[in-house]
Amino acid sequence: MIEMKDVYKQYSNGVMAANGFNVHIKQGEFVYVVGPSGAGKSTFIKMMYREERPTKGDIIVNSINLAKLKTSRVPYLRRNVGVVFQDFKLLPSLTIYENIAFALEVIEEHPKQIKKRVMEVLDLVGLKHKARMLPNELSGGEQQRVSIARSIVNTPKLVIADEPTGNLDPETSWDIMNILEDISNRGTTVIMATHNREIVNTIKHRVIAIENGRIVRDEQRGDYGYES
Ligand SMILES: Nc1ncnc2c1ncn2[C@@H]1O[C@H](COP(=O)(O)OP(=O)(O)OP(=O)(O)O)[C@@H](O)[C@H]1O
Ligand SMILES: [Mg+2]
Repeated sequence: MIEMKDVYKQYSNGVMAANGFNVHIKQGEFVYVVGPSGAGKSTFIKMMYREERPTKGDIIVNSINLAKLKTSRVPYLRRNVGVVFQDFKLLPSLTIYENIAFALEVIEEHPKQIKKRVMEVLDLVGLKHKARMLPNELSGGEQQRVSIARSIVNTPKLVIADEPTGNLDPETSWDIMNILEDISNRGTTVIMATHNREIVNTIKHRVIAIENGRIVRDEQRGDYGYES
């Protein structure tokens, strides 16, 4: 489902954040991306949903070559890829319900169908009762659950999360992990960049370690592997 072939990324300031990424990720895999700060994890992830374009190389996601994809086609790609950020990125003036419904309204889904699907994903993350509230009326963990609900409302085949537990306390981080596990168990591919050693070492999955823009380790059921 995802293939990177000799992918390089040099930012306009000259920084080489990707020095030849080669990776193949199958449908349904759960992959942790680990490595020191500045290693290139976010760059790796951003190239998978065309937030960044590679300087060189090919990136195939759902049979689309993102290196060649026209900018005007990027919204179509995004419909099949859910993205979760460390800082949630919810729209502050919209209710929880509206934040999630937004993605379906854009694709002109039938209103009845929108309501059904939004309540379904809110139920999945345990927040049906907060549908009418505004983001700032929710705790950080609840806001992250909303952002996960939003990321899966389109039933994407791929969910990408960049440090989804980065701003959360340990207990809330485990709640978020349980939801991502649940999504993964339903067959969705999950790719998650994280600095959370305990989670990586406890819920075992494939681990891709990046250092200085290079993949230095790629192991099934790997460890976090860095001294804290
Ligand atoms: N938009 C940008 N312009 C220029 N340089 C950038 C840009 N984004 C990232 N970089 C640089 O690219 C390198 C990799 O950054 P990246 O954000 O991918 O690291 P990271 O592994 O996600 O780090 P962290 O764990 O701190 O999130 C760093 O040296 C960073 O300073
Ligand atoms: Mg990062």
